[in-house]
Amino acid sequence: MDRAALEKALGGTVFAGRLHHFTTIGSTNTRALEQARLGAPHGSYYLADEQTAGRGRSNHPWHSASGDGLYLSALLRLPLSAQQLVWMPLLAGLVAHNAIAAVTSLHPDIRWPNDLLIRDRKTGGILVEALAEQDGLRPVVMGVGINLHQTSFPPGLATPATSLDRETGTRISRQQLLVALLQSLHRELLPLASESARSAALAAIPARIAACSSWIQGRQVAVHGPHACTGTTLGLDERGYLRVQTADGPVTITTGGLRTLEN
Ligand code: BTN
Repeated sequence: MDRAALEKALGGTVFAGRLHHFTTIGSTNTRALEQARLGAPHGSYYLADEQTAGRGRSNHPWHSASGDGLYLSALLRLPLSAQQLVWMPLLAGLVAHNAIAAVTSLHPDIRWPNDLLIRDRKTGGILVEALAEQDGLRPVVMGVGINLHQTSFPPGLATPATSLDRETGTRISRQQLLVALLQSLHRELLPLASESARSAALAAIPARIAACSSWIQGRQVAVHGPHACTGTTLGLDERGYLRVQTADGPVTITTGGLRTLEN
């Protein structure tokens, strides 16, 4: 890690001077949440070379072997209502999509809510966790895991996986990807600071996701989680929830995940 180059690239962003780097740690999300409770500032970010207890969505582990991936958690303090918080996992998906596109020219497919897939293989995942408001601001931890250098994966993954190196045939720089992610996140945060710009920025998310997702509209899916069902996706509603046309009519999916419907 070239710390001087990193700081130069992040100059003027909320992340300047706020890196906490670990050779090994349990989970960067867990550390970020602990530090949020202790009052760590907006823009603090936690980066690990290895996680020994990396956490994914739905209580899945996130395999985080040393040096193979980007394991990052950013702590944000945002003026968001509980309802507006729903947008953050989706926004994180856009941020990761844009960063990967900027560094690799790959355009990962976003599988709702925020898995990053290349040719139906998972290359990145996001775990957003939030705490109760502190001083009128909500601490939000945006955890991003991206497979960079792996050449093989453990058996039995829910979705087959791939890495950016495998997909590009080159060695992708973790530092370049980190910079692209934090710069992209910084740009997304700017309109969230003021109330009028915030509403417009959040309202634009469904169309932005639809533009880089083959899953959001017109896809036959099996939904897993508490709203398990099968049907055809109908797009995101104005709150950020997924609508699915089932045999019993349209339903709203507030949480869970998607798989391709096997015919
Ligand atoms: C998923 O797809 O299930 C989400 C995976 C999120 C993994 C990242 S790696 C950095 C951060 N720390 C964690 O323990 N999890 C997230």
